[in-house]
Amino acid sequence: MDLKDKIDLTRLPGHIAVIMDGNGRWAKNRGEVRVFGHRNGVEAVRQTATAAAELGIRHLTLYAFSTENWKRPKCEVDALMNLLVASLSSELGTLMDNNIRLKAIGDLCHLQKNCFAQLQETMAKTAGNTRMDLILALNYSGRWEITEAARKIAGDIEQGKITKNDVDQDLFSTYLDTSEIPDPELLIRTSGEYRISNFLLWQLAYAELCFSPKLWPDFRKDDLYEAILDYQHRERRFGMTSEQIKPLTNQ
Ligand code: IPE
Ligand code: IPE
Ligand code: MG
Repeated sequence: MDLKDKIDLTRLPGHIAVIMDGNGRWAKNRGEVRVFGHRNGVEAVRQTATAAAELGIRHLTLYAFSTENWKRPKCEVDALMNLLVASLSSELGTLMDNNIRLKAIGDLCHLQKNCFAQLQETMAKTAGNTRMDLILALNYSGRWEITEAARKIAGDIEQGKITKNDVDQDLFSTYLDTSEIPDPELLIRTSGEYRISNFLLWQLAYAELCFSPKLWPDFRKDDLYEAILDYQHRERRFGMTSEQIKPLTNQ
């Protein structure tokens, strides 16, 4: 029986978030420069996105570039941006064939101009697609997003649009970049690192975490299926007891 056939399609996570890590080590293992790893990571993105869409996952968020990644050597940052622009253009066919709509979260205005323009173009061309939203986290960090939300809320209070007492978790969520996206139920991080690295800090509050030892360029459809199967074996209690949860999940 294929891994895919073991997945219970009635209990899929609606939103999967992925920290795509390990490109540099993958290249180093082959005696190549880090950029070689990034380039080979594109196939893993293609496989993960198409597998998720085929299964019926509604939202897939990929951490592509963090606000901290600017600290890398300029040549690596430039290569990553160029690869992003090239891939957004060359993968348009994959997005259209699979009915995937591209979205992005992060400090997009501060991306390089050509990068921002290509992103806007691909998002516009895929805007009518309906099977799955592929959300790229670009120049993104959770602390940046939460701080921005706090600033916008302060501004709206100052202008009298809302009052201090209106601020609760639901309202706060509407000020985040992910306001129209449900929280991820499953987070996958590759490369055997066990950390969040400033990704979706607010939204991951109750996500199930799954860590794969695979380096990102080696990640394939079966690895995604394995993570989903792992997720389906978890008991999600949300602070309640196992006994309280059982009657709910058996309904
Ligand atoms: C992930 O791979 C890609 C980005 C962060 C852009 P890395 O480049 O972090 O690869 P490692 O972790 O150094 O192996
Ligand atoms: C996280 O990976 C960021 C992305 C995958 C874009 P990093 O490789 O930057 O994370 P750290 O620095 O090892 O925590
Ligand atoms: Mg890394």
